[in-house]
Amino acid sequence: MTLPDAMRAVEISQPGGPEVLRPVTRPVPESGPSDIVIRVAWAGVNRPDALQRAGAYAAPPGASDLPGLEAAGEIVAVGAEVTRWQVGDHVCALLPGGGYAEFVATPADHALPVPAGLTLDQAACLPETFFTVWSNVFMRAGLRAGETLLVHGGSSGIGTTAIQLATAFGARVFTTAGTAEKCQICERLGAERAINYREEDFVEVLKAEGGAHVILDMVGGSYIPRNIKALRTEGRLVQIAFLESPKVELNFAQVMLRRLTITGSTLRPQSDAAKAEIARQLEEKVWPLLASGDLGPVMDSEFALEDAARAHARMESSAHIGKIVLKVAG
Ligand SMILES: NC(=O)c1ccc[n+]([C@@H]2O[C@H](COP(=O)([O-])OP(=O)(O)OC[C@H]3O[C@@H](n4cnc5c(N)ncnc54)[C@H](OP(=O)(O)O)[C@@H]3O)[C@@H](O)[C@H]2O)c1
Repeated sequence: MTLPDAMRAVEISQPGGPEVLRPVTRPVPESGPSDIVIRVAWAGVNRPDALQRAGAYAAPPGASDLPGLEAAGEIVAVGAEVTRWQVGDHVCALLPGGGYAEFVATPADHALPVPAGLTLDQAACLPETFFTVWSNVFMRAGLRAGETLLVHGGSSGIGTTAIQLATAFGARVFTTAGTAEKCQICERLGAERAINYREEDFVEVLKAEGGAHVILDMVGGSYIPRNIKALRTEGRLVQIAFLESPKVELNFAQVMLRRLTITGSTLRPQSDAAKAEIARQLEEKVWPLLASGDLGPVMDSEFALEDAARAHARMESSAHIGKIVLKVAG
């Protein structure tokens, strides 16, 4: 297939608010020997895109400067070393960047098939949150069936994914969210108890349950000492962002006395091999659950690619529940 030289895309014209996202024309990316090129049908919008836009989360060396960490569409080119995929296959993929565009290149083993029964807009919502939740909650924190998970921001893209995944693997899930409506949706997704953090203290709720084995946190700041109180002995705190602050004064005695583990990670700077291993585990353990309908993406809203600024404004308003996607093709 002959690809065009140029494509529609949305770039970050300068660090700033949503208005700095600007429709542009860019060259179509070429695939390296182990890459695929995808004609993007839909691109997922994630909070890290907004951080990158604001100048607080630089693209790693070698990655596209265009935002967009996940997409779904049709493969239009495969590198010489790629054996798994063929031109015409429909995939969803984790991207090093560049999803807000008609075409994007990514390592072939960061792509996964579109789960049976899911549409391309649904599939575009999967990679960033499923890679993040699987690698942090299951691979890093080792959540097991019967254990208790507390996930903050339960109505977020990450939160809705974590609630469903942990429930599907037999954990008890507690979560926090900022409104009664968000709490209701979290409980419908499988959370045993959603705590409206504006009205209730999650520490008290978790302590009454004997404490959390694992906490997935994106807030940080004042939540860090409270998370430590909410953990049980041998509990694990996984930090994936700091919406409030990365800095806090902390008494580490409880970490020692109750043998706690504090860990965390960001997905984007990890090696291609590490991401390929996450993809492999997801395909084996989680993709069958998506195909059977046991879990699925929670969709908030869809915007045209050129309306990416409006999509970011909605995400930053925190009015959304679940995932926001950009329609790129057609
Ligand atoms: N480490 C990684 O690799 C990685 C990868 C992807 C995403 N992330 C991070 O994970 C977080 C979620 O990402 P996303 O794309 O799912 O974003 P999102 O849908 O915009 O989620 C952010 C959520 O945070 C909640 N929130 C904001 N301030 C809060 C506070 N003070 N206390 C409690 N909850 C608060 C909001 O819910 P309420 O309205 O209920 O407050 C909102 O739903 C982001 O911080 C993102 O940067 C990390």
